[in-house]
Amino acid sequence: MKVDISVMQGDLVQVGCDLLVVNLFAGVTAPGGGTGAVDAALGGWISKAIAEQDFKGKLNSMLLLDTHGKILATRVLVVGLGEREKFGAEQIRQVSSTAIKAAKKVKANTVVTILHGAGIAGLPADCCAQAVTEGALLGDYSFSKYKSKNEEVPVAKLIMVELDAAKIADIEAGVSKGTVIASAVNVTRDLSNEPPNVVTPQFLAEYATNMSEALGLQCTIWSGEKLVEERMNCLLAVGRASANPPCFIRVDYTPDGASKRVALVGKGLCYDSGGLSLKPAEHMRHMKTDMAGAAAVLGVLGVIAKLRPGVVVSGFLPVCENMVSGTSYKVDDVLTARNGMTIEIDNTDAEGRLVLADALSVAADGGFDEIIDIATLTGGCMVALGRRWTGIMGNNQPLIDAISAAGDTVGERMWNLPLDEEIREMLDSDIADIKNSASREASASQGGVFLQEFVGDTPWAHLDIAGTSMLDKERAYEPKGCTGVPVRALVEYILG
Ligand code: BES
Ligand code: MN
Ligand code: ZN
Repeated sequence: MKVDISVMQGDLVQVGCDLLVVNLFAGVTAPGGGTGAVDAALGGWISKAIAEQDFKGKLNSMLLLDTHGKILATRVLVVGLGEREKFGAEQIRQVSSTAIKAAKKVKANTVVTILHGAGIAGLPADCCAQAVTEGALLGDYSFSKYKSKNEEVPVAKLIMVELDAAKIADIEAGVSKGTVIASAVNVTRDLSNEPPNVVTPQFLAEYATNMSEALGLQCTIWSGEKLVEERMNCLLAVGRASANPPCFIRVDYTPDGASKRVALVGKGLCYDSGGLSLKPAEHMRHMKTDMAGAAAVLGVLGVIAKLRPGVVVSGFLPVCENMVSGTSYKVDDVLTARNGMTIEIDNTDAEGRLVLADALSVAADGGFDEIIDIATLTGGCMVALGRRWTGIMGNNQPLIDAISAAGDTVGERMWNLPLDEEIREMLDSDIADIKNSASREASASQGGVFLQEFVGDTPWAHLDIAGTSMLDKERAYEPKGCTGVPVRALVEYILG
């Protein structure tokens, strides 16, 4: 169940609830503001804990107190904000997530929170409210629908209390924007966490159709003969071995008088067994998430449809499964991509770049100002950058820089990897225009130079999310499993 978030004008100390959340910066000995007021009402228990060094305000650290009836709230939770110099929206999301998880643990039904950060470090109230909302909704996420017994006690209500009536409208705007964004990230997580016997190409096509219908977007699906007619030969080759046939999904948001047109292309491998270049068992694990790029594009479009910026945003999703059968495409095959380029298959496990090749050429023909593709493309990117940094590369430095800057703003960081002639030459084929893989050297960049062949002159950036789309250990507001990266970064980039 989702937490219901609301805003209330009033005095923190006077509100009844199961848990009252306040905060403290590291190094503060005499709490002020809302925390100070609660401390005074409790007869100085918070400052006593600080004096006795039981609580130092370290980021995400907690002090939980029973109020013993001194105020209407049953319990008070003080969360540490860390050092004031390092404080920003990222820290607000983290402490908000920390608080909601603690609330669940103590089975608090109704939680009241101070608006972390308002007025500090030049942060406007709406940004703080958005960050509190995102932290709570993202941190509260779990994928438990297949558990027969779900023992989690959800938090029903989170109420942000603010004394200053003049700020309430801004805070409400922040809550509503944060709710739209976090809900879309959670939908992206759900789609990627769903098992591959549920999320098939057919399922994603129906999902996109229904979502578009509900949000007033246009949705077009190509399947069967239409894919042949449209020369989506690489997508057809990769998808051929599967009992679940491939499809190509296009979703358009087209406001009047748009200032620019952005194409988002998402890798949609509902399963990647590797094909005939079969993955070893341990590498096949979690390859249900090989459609996380496609799921992220749908997540972004969900936000865009609700927040309605003056920018055309179109999603292009090549969707299929990479499987093994007598009809599998083979190592040594030569495919002719949609743009006419011939591709020698060096490894059937380098399938993502093949389906993206056809999708990128559709986008390139569409006259977009920018193309951004999002793909769980290479294990090499995960090896190089780990699970915090998305690899970004492309043919246009200002575009790369602008997307990375948006990522920095929302805490979805990106690292620029190189594309150059020497790496392109690694993919030279003896018999065709290009081959789809080579040695393991610079493998993420090899993926990039391959994709570059299909975007023409359009400014383009490629985001390799192989490392960042999934975590094996939870973080503050990111669960174990699928993260929904880079939905928030792309929303931030498009909304500006
Ligand atoms: N889907 C994988 C990449 C991947 C690996 C994503 C681990 C998430 C976690 C991709 O299709 C793949 O198999 N890439 C190969 C390419 C190689 C054959 C050139 C890889 O990275 O090993
Ligand atoms: Mn693969
Ligand atoms: Zn793959």
